[in-house]
Amino acid sequence: MLCKRLHHAAYRCLDAKDTVRFYTEVLGLKFSHAMGEDHVPSTGLYSPHIHIFFQMEDGSCIAFFECPKDPGNIKDKDSPDWIQHFAFKVESLEVLMQAKKDLELKGLEVLGPTNHDDFITSIYFFDPSGHRLELTADTCEKTMYPIFEAEAPKVLALWDETHDWSQREKIFGSKSGYKR
Ligand SMILES: [Fe+2]
Repeated sequence: MLCKRLHHAAYRCLDAKDTVRFYTEVLGLKFSHAMGEDHVPSTGLYSPHIHIFFQMEDGSCIAFFECPKDPGNIKDKDSPDWIQHFAFKVESLEVLMQAKKDLELKGLEVLGPTNHDDFITSIYFFDPSGHRLELTADTCEKTMYPIFEAEAPKVLALWDETHDWSQREKIFGSKSGYKR
């Protein structure tokens, strides 16, 4: 494959210092790199900013820009809150449940656990800029992966045809939930 793994996904933050505190102290990521520019390197546009990176165990990062002079919102405020989010994988369901307790002890409001198709189970919360974050644990046997992969184009085709799930039984074997 051309694309080896996630390098980074970048978002805008309200305050770089608060963001560093949250991602290092609350989530335990490594504050691995910070760059400062008055002009955007790719376009040359004037925008004094700091670009900060937080590294996970596999070397992949979540990154942020604090851009005080630029217009616009920190995130898309017109879409529902749950849509745009960033998900971190954790080791196991046990680790996920302990993380929920730890985050709540640190004063965060945590939603979940939520089971998604017996594929993953997740919890949700927000960072100091209002970005939705997810911690997720794999909950299915590896034998399910080829089944999910073979099913995906059929799921897409039915969606493309109907744009609702009134006929979901055809694929998922149930009017609600997933029975395969
Ligand atoms: Fe997600």
